[in-house]
Amino acid sequence: MSPAFLPYGRQQISERDVEAVASALRGELITQGPAVAEFERRFAEHVGAKHAVAFANGTAALHGAAHAAGLGPGDEALTTPLSFVASANCALYMGATVRFTDVDPATWNLDTAVAAAQLSDRTRAIVAVSLTGLPVDLGPLEGVRDRVVVIEDGCHALGGHRDGVRVGGPGGADMTTFSLHPVKAMTTGEGGMVTTEDDRLAARLRGFRTHGIAREGLRPSPEEGSWYYEVRELGFNYRLTDFQCALGLSQLERLEEWVAARNEIAGWYRELLADEPLLALPPPAPKGSLHAHHLFVVRILAGPAVRLEVFEGLRAAGIGVQVHYIPIYRFPYYRDTLGYPQDTCPHAEEYYRGAISLPIYPALSRAEVERVVAELRRLLESHSPPPTG
Ligand SMILES: Cc1ncc(COP(=O)(O)O)c(C=O)c1O
Repeated sequence: MSPAFLPYGRQQISERDVEAVASALRGELITQGPAVAEFERRFAEHVGAKHAVAFANGTAALHGAAHAAGLGPGDEALTTPLSFVASANCALYMGATVRFTDVDPATWNLDTAVAAAQLSDRTRAIVAVSLTGLPVDLGPLEGVRDRVVVIEDGCHALGGHRDGVRVGGPGGADMTTFSLHPVKAMTTGEGGMVTTEDDRLAARLRGFRTHGIAREGLRPSPEEGSWYYEVRELGFNYRLTDFQCALGLSQLERLEEWVAARNEIAGWYRELLADEPLLALPPPAPKGSLHAHHLFVVRILAGPAVRLEVFEGLRAAGIGVQVHYIPIYRFPYYRDTLGYPQDTCPHAEEYYRGAISLPIYPALSRAEVERVVAELRRLLESHSPPPTG
């Protein structure tokens, strides 16, 4: 019998989660009911934020943040090329343009010092992604916070912190977005969240999530009664259901434990792969910070042909590796339709040449990690280490 397939990420669902969802489904309101506000309240509490606004998915959360930031035609957002495409698309949805700033090779996160130096008169927002769960350094953006809205795409980083500042909490970005997709730190099936300290941004996020509808502070005409509401701006239906929020409430209880488990697994990989000369291990979180370890990305140093061979070899061995990410400007939509140049981010290219995401999720056992490592070593064995000096 061949060993079980190991995906790169997967959800963790308990009987308690199933019960929570079943109970929400037996309730009167299965969407726009009490679980949504309760989930938002508890999520906000967890990251220490004043507001949390639930969205249908992480992409909708980014779209909401781009809207709340006021991005529109003629504006520009700076972001990293190393992310899921939604981090850049959110600016395009608003009719704005995207400029890619290269990553810092010490972290593979957006080089925020370079981004701060590259602002133009048109730059209205910076979308800084905490890639793999390593919290992005927002410090270099301090001096430009009066000129741009800082959005942290924290879709990988729920549960992490930067020098004690929780991702999504006070002292961080103007808005932080999260994804609650099954491969993420916790899940609601599909789902997303935006956290912020700012009352005005929170109100804009809430309006955008529900068609731009306002129900408070209205002045209906004398012929109009309590049915009255107004559509104040263009919005969408980006709501999350009550049964998804019930799952979220149940999952939230175990978030800390799961982030700790991910860090333990990352520690096993580091220990077992430390002496492998053809691999670069991912940068750890700086002392005093916590990596959320949504991903564990190693880089093959023997060139793209070996990366391909190793990737296919691991897949053939039942190990569901992935590559996170192809630099966004390489996609035909960006390259051909929008005309993005291909040679502006050498560090992102260096990363992409070698990156492979190994399995990491809370239920992954030490024996399974050893199996991944053994296969990886076997596939690298016949290749020589890179020249030194
Ligand atoms: C960095 C990043 N941003 C945004 C998203 C979009 O989230 P969702 O898939 O929930 O729409 C993802 C999800 O893959 C992501 O990894």
